[in-house]
Parts: sequence; structure tokens; C-alpha cells
Amino acid sequence: MRGWPNPALFPKQALQDAANAALSDPTTSSEALEYGPDPGWEPCRKAVANWLTEFYRPADHEGESYSSDVARLCITGGASQNLGCMLSVYTDPEYTRNIWIVAPAYFLAFRIFEDAGFAGKMRAVPEDEDGVDLTYLRRELEESEQKAKAEGKDRPRYKLARRRAKVYKHIIYCVPTFANPSSRTMSLQHRTEMVRIARDYDALLVADDVYDFLQWPAAERSGRSLDDMERAHLPRLTDIDRVIDGGSDRNGADGFGNACSNGSFSKIVAPGVRVGWVEGTPKFAYGVSQCGTTRSGGAPSQLTSTYMTHLLTSGALPKHIRHTLQPAYARRYASLMRAIETHLVPLGFTLPQPNREVVGGYFVWLALPEGSKWNADKLAARCRTEENVIVAPGGLFEVPGDGERVSFEGHIRLCFAWEDERSLVDGVKRVGRVAARIRDEDAGDQGSQGFDADSFK
Ligand SMILES: Cc1ncc(COP(=O)(O)O)c(C=O)c1O
Repeated sequence: MRGWPNPALFPKQALQDAANAALSDPTTSSEALEYGPDPGWEPCRKAVANWLTEFYRPADHEGESYSSDVARLCITGGASQNLGCMLSVYTDPEYTRNIWIVAPAYFLAFRIFEDAGFAGKMRAVPEDEDGVDLTYLRRELEESEQKAKAEGKDRPRYKLARRRAKVYKHIIYCVPTFANPSSRTMSLQHRTEMVRIARDYDALLVADDVYDFLQWPAAERSGRSLDDMERAHLPRLTDIDRVIDGGSDRNGADGFGNACSNGSFSKIVAPGVRVGWVEGTPKFAYGVSQCGTTRSGGAPSQLTSTYMTHLLTSGALPKHIRHTLQPAYARRYASLMRAIETHLVPLGFTLPQPNREVVGGYFVWLALPEGSKWNADKLAARCRTEENVIVAPGGLFEVPGDGERVSFEGHIRLCFAWEDERSLVDGVKRVGRVAARIRDEDAGDQGSQGFDADSFK
């Protein structure tokens, strides 16, 4: 149950058409093969801006405006590359106090923070049923600030003072919609409060908004269909920062804003294209484009960004999302959930946010039965050896150095992106068989605990 998209769902023909279109047009092809402008190819920025505006535009969230514009965007080499780039531009490993990571967290981000000098400074912020425990976050930020004050951290140590650049005191990293791994979605109220907290502490909120487009109704009974899923159901943190309490241009603000949206084509086209975008205030987006590696090498992924442009302007990508990805993932998700209800819930496994109307992303997060003496490491190891099925144990998603305070040894992550429906159901049955065996062994009374062995065949 690996966390990759299955190649069967890649839009290969549309990509081939896009590559042909880009390379056979003499103007496009010479620009595509040249060093790209620092913020990215202008037609790509325009196409991304139009597409994002269409998707994130006003739902019913009073007072919020959603139009993206070119000045707010910088084309990137994907969310991972861009995270590294943003850290090199906007942090100083001495002055920036901590990286606050909403946990359980996307574990491959840890190394990116370490590479930027933040080993030992990463701190976990637990999720709650609204997506993030804000009381915890505020309290810890306050403590960290007091400590920094006592230590006299009043200016960046390793970063030069540059015009049109800044160093934030804190970074807060999260996946607000369909999180990896927990699949939780942060409520509107918590999103709004997160932005206010970030402003109070000179923090940059980095939101990996990489799963937003992969959404579908949680269940038929919700009365919604995929046709209702062509618009985002919640605004991004950067959309909120743009407008609340005077917006990011309010009096006294420095114009860099306190939230950015780190977007990617990896989950909706293919990871190999290595193209993404970041949206923030115009000053912020310009700053990202001035990262040293971009000034030297030009916009990352310049060639493939011309392919993405064609996918957007031709309508091929919206069509692919609506007619291939959303239905395919919705079906896989429904099969997986039915299997979980049948084979794991009766054993005591539980799911977060069970009453959501809109679900999505790639993952399902499960809590092991309450009171079990065994943990996720044991379950995952035995699933592998006894049933040849891979599940990710919760410990993998603990923030290094903070795993004791915010721990997930009682959770597992399942992914429905890689396997087909039949394998997903089969995989869940196998997990159920292992879990039932462990439970019975622990009870010292194998096979007589009253579970229905037939349901695990
Ligand atoms: C939350 C999150 N951020 C970033 C990435 C990687 O994105 P990209 O391929 O754009 O670098 C992933 C991929 O799994 C992810 O889950």
C-alpha cells in the first residue's frame, strides 16, 4: 500500500500531445529549452493563475477573495524542491527559532528541514479533530519566543540583509487538506486562527496543498456528486491571509505575508514531471524566485512547465482530474472503507473525522483498538512477514526529536493510490487476520475471543 500514484492513472497521451505541441512550436520550444525566467514561464504562470482561480473561487466563505494572479505565483520544481528553496530564502538556522510541524507528518519533509540546518529544532504540533491543536501551538510558540529573547536572538546570523527579502522567526508546516498521513482536513475556523497565530509570531505557514484537487463526496448519502467537486471546499491558508483583518497588505505589515500554498502537479499529473507552483503575496513569490539556485539555473523544470501549460490551456488536465482521477480514487476509497468497516472496525480500529462530507487525498489513518497491548510496529512487521502486506506504522510520521511528546505508535497509514480495488480489499482482510491473531495471542486464548473467523478469509 505504497504512497505513490499508480502509472495506470498517468495521462500519458495528454502529456505526449502537450510535449509535441510545445516542441513543435518554434517560439515555445526555444523558450522551453532556454534558461527560464526566475519566477517561471509567463504563460505557465498565467495558466496556473486562471486554473487556481477557477478552483479556489468563492464558495460561501464570507469576505474571502480567491483570484490568483501572476504576481502571486512562482513556478517550482514541485513541492519538495520548493520547500528546500523557501527555507534557503526565508530562514536562518540560528535566528529562525523552530520548525513547527503538524503531526503526524509527511516524513520525507524532515530531511529537507534538517538539510536547511534545523536538526534538533523541529517540533511537533498535534492534530485534533479540527486539524490542529491551536492551544498547544500558541503556548509552545510563546515559550520558544521567550527563550529566544533570553538568548538574545535578535537578528539573522547566517543570512545577508537583502532588499526585498526577509527571515521569518518561525516556520509552521502543515497539510491542511487531506493530510499525509492522517487524511484530516483543517476546519475553516482553525485555518483562520492559524493565520492569526502566524501573524502574532512572525511565522511563515507553509501549506503543502498537494491533495486539494483529489476530492469526492464521503458517501452517497451526502447527496453530493462529483459534479459538486470541481471547486475547493475550503480556502487555502494563503487565501485567508490575503483578506482577513486588513489582509497581508494591512498597515504595519511587511508585505511578505504569513502563509504560502506549496502546490504540485505530482499527484494530479505525474511526479516525474517535477513541476509545481507556490502562491503567496507578490513580494513573497518574487523572493522565492530569487533563490540562488534559480537565479543561476533559471526556473526549475522549465521544459516540463511548458507541457503543464498546454495541459491547462487545452483543458486536458481539468478533464483528467474530473473524469479519470476523481472517479478512480473515489471508487478505491469506497472499496477500502467498506473493507475497513467489515474487517477492522469490528476489531476496534477507529478512523479520524468520521463524519466528513468531503474526503480525498491518498490515505486512510487508523487508530489501533483502544487498550491493545501491541503497537503499530508489531502489526506492520507481522503484516509483512505473515501476510505479505505493507502498512506504514505511525512511528514513521513522528517528528524527529519530538516523538515522545507527540507519538503515533498506536496508528497505521493505508494508501489507496497505488493498489487497485481488489488488492485493497484483500490487503485489509490480511491486516484484519494479523490483528485478530495478535489480539488472541495477547489474550492467551487463541481463537476463542468471539471474532468471526469467516470474515477474515
Ligand atoms: C504532503 C506532501 N508534500 C509533498 C510531497 C511531494 O511533492 P512533490 O512530488 O511535488 O515534491 C508529497 C508526496 O507524497 C506529500 O505527500
